[in-house]
Amino acid sequence: MREPKRHLITSALPYANGALHLGHLAGAYLPADIYVRYLRLLGKDVVFVCGSDEHGAAITMRAKKDGVTPQEIIDKYHALNKDTFQRLGISFDIYHRTSAPLHAETAQGFFKELYDKGGEFEERITEQYFDEEYQQFLADRYIVGTCPRCGHEDAYGDQCESCGSTLSPTELIKPRSVLSGKPPVLKPTVHWYFKLDKHADWLRTWIEEGTLDGNPHHDPKTWKKHVTGQCLSWLDHGLQPRAITRDLDWGVPVPLDEAKGKVLYVWFDAPIGYISATKQWAADHGKNWEDYWKSPDSQLVHFIGKDNIVFHCIVFPAMLKAHGDYLLPVNVPANQFLNFEGRKFSKSKGWGIEQHEYLEDFRDFPNKEDALRYALIRNMPEQRDSDFKWDEFVDFHDKELADNLGNFLNRVIVLTQKYYDGQTPAGNFATSVHGETILRLTKELAAAIESFNFRDAIQKFLEISTYGNVYLQDVSPWAIWKDEPDSAVVKECLHTCLQIAKVLSVVVEPFLPFTSKKISALLNLPEVQAGDFARLLDQLEKGQALIPAGHTVGEPVVLFPKINDRKDSSRLELIEAQKAQLAAVLAAEQEEARNEFAPLKPTIQYDDFAKLDIRTGTILEAEKVPKADRLLKLRVDLGFEKRTVVAGIAEHFNPEAIIGQRVLVLANLAPRPLKGIESNGMILMAENEAGKLCFVTPQEGWPNGFGVR
Ligand code: 2FM
Ligand code: ZN
Repeated sequence: MREPKRHLITSALPYANGALHLGHLAGAYLPADIYVRYLRLLGKDVVFVCGSDEHGAAITMRAKKDGVTPQEIIDKYHALNKDTFQRLGISFDIYHRTSAPLHAETAQGFFKELYDKGGEFEERITEQYFDEEYQQFLADRYIVGTCPRCGHEDAYGDQCESCGSTLSPTELIKPRSVLSGKPPVLKPTVHWYFKLDKHADWLRTWIEEGTLDGNPHHDPKTWKKHVTGQCLSWLDHGLQPRAITRDLDWGVPVPLDEAKGKVLYVWFDAPIGYISATKQWAADHGKNWEDYWKSPDSQLVHFIGKDNIVFHCIVFPAMLKAHGDYLLPVNVPANQFLNFEGRKFSKSKGWGIEQHEYLEDFRDFPNKEDALRYALIRNMPEQRDSDFKWDEFVDFHDKELADNLGNFLNRVIVLTQKYYDGQTPAGNFATSVHGETILRLTKELAAAIESFNFRDAIQKFLEISTYGNVYLQDVSPWAIWKDEPDSAVVKECLHTCLQIAKVLSVVVEPFLPFTSKKISALLNLPEVQAGDFARLLDQLEKGQALIPAGHTVGEPVVLFPKINDRKDSSRLELIEAQKAQLAAVLAAEQEEARNEFAPLKPTIQYDDFAKLDIRTGTILEAEKVPKADRLLKLRVDLGFEKRTVVAGIAEHFNPEAIIGQRVLVLANLAPRPLKGIESNGMILMAENEAGKLCFVTPQEGWPNGFGVR
């Protein structure tokens, strides 16, 4: 493929409904920043866009919860997230927002173009839940009810957070509106659907073979397997037309006269946010945005987390292709998820740390931004989920940043000051075996970044630092210099180490930009700037010195004072405080779990228990009992016979969802009539204090009819 002239890099637009945690940073922002910084160091024309996703139920729900307007929510979190990213060195060229008028105009223009083309949309009338008290249609998230799969009582209209099932609002048992708390009614409404299904064929070829309209587009081998896998699984299941409008009052109005009161679905307008952000950036900088979105000389890469894969690899590409004149991404190197100390991040459970909280808690920690960036890159969830642990954070910091990188730089500067008054000695690094090795490692580091393997890339960086350390130790100039201050070996050694330090200042910049500046200061060189990586490779190839003989270096500074420091416990205390918070969360959870249990009933004798005949069984049929909200009529197979049992579980389970459910049945309970049906036995259920029910089931593979004792 041809060298691209321009690069357009995007990071997922985060919802402006809350602060972002370390998992977000490691997922979609830090990897993009590394890639962008690297491209800039190669002297490439690159634009890095991001911004706030300010529409959709995520925002309005949050506003409702906080009792403020959606506008207040987005203003607050847009400002917070923008500022936090900047403080962590995420170097967006623009951090735009989807509430901007330019965005509405762009999204509406996009919609209108597809609409006017014909053939891309279809109008459908469907029945949707409506809150009569509030006189409005309800977004999926605004409807809660009992999950038909697991009985969880507060499942959302699109998803049950207890069992993870994807749901549609009409599947919920006993649905209720989040607004009024009352049962909603079904009402017909018209919506526009994007005919995603008609794009399935070319999408498959594009993903599997990397060709577009018969032309090479990208190399599918360079895409991550989990990304391609998720896309193909979607295609295998068959694409369906997707509703791209909603009955909501918060969002980009649908630009059609017949669509009063309707807005574009947030996932239709959000990715167009990348386009409007680029437009704004171009307007601010006297550039042409279309060069980046429409010229075949440009390359588009989307950085996202794995939950956004379908939208970026199927839906948005189909929208762009339908429009006709846009580029498609050459890669979507989605990351998996970062966990935190063995669990999912959860704000409500107090598990995890937000980016701005870290900056606040670690405000006195030297080089805190890069200490964090380093730990996250070392453990980036590139191919599989990974886990952030404070103990590892400490190890990475002390063993790799302090003992390896920091120690090397410090010794080199101290020795140069001591032996040569800070003046760089002459030497032959660039034409030596050391120069060759460093050039090879630098190229390997570059190749790893280009293929989105940032963990490998930072390992290469560490190898360069280790190489310098080992070399310095091997030569041990201090042992020679005391007898022979004019030794050529010592001069060559420090010359070489200073050149390696210069290499480190450049190659570290994409990962640890703050540290790069500090290394440049140690070397008394200007900060690393655009094109420096390319210049470095060129100089190494040509065998030229990177720091000329006679250049005076700066004063030594300890870049990464260790966390485990016997003389100063302040940094370790910060870590201990974080761990203590987590321990407190765990302790509170345990306490809560203890309170969940009902007190024991009075003691019985063995004979009382022996009277119960409990058998294994399977539910064969289930149906609602008319005029009885709580009852389900079940047909249960007990192995030796089939019988009818009436169970009071209709509020917890949908009849269709429990067919085939294995159960335990109290089989010798006297028959009793319930709503005119004779019930023969009782299904055993476990119940928590909140009244939630689950089945008690025999081990898999056990036949029906066996006794329980
Ligand atoms: O999942 C999310 O947080 C979405 N706000 C991401 C949107 S990415 C893009 F499409 F804007
Ligand atoms: Zn569920």
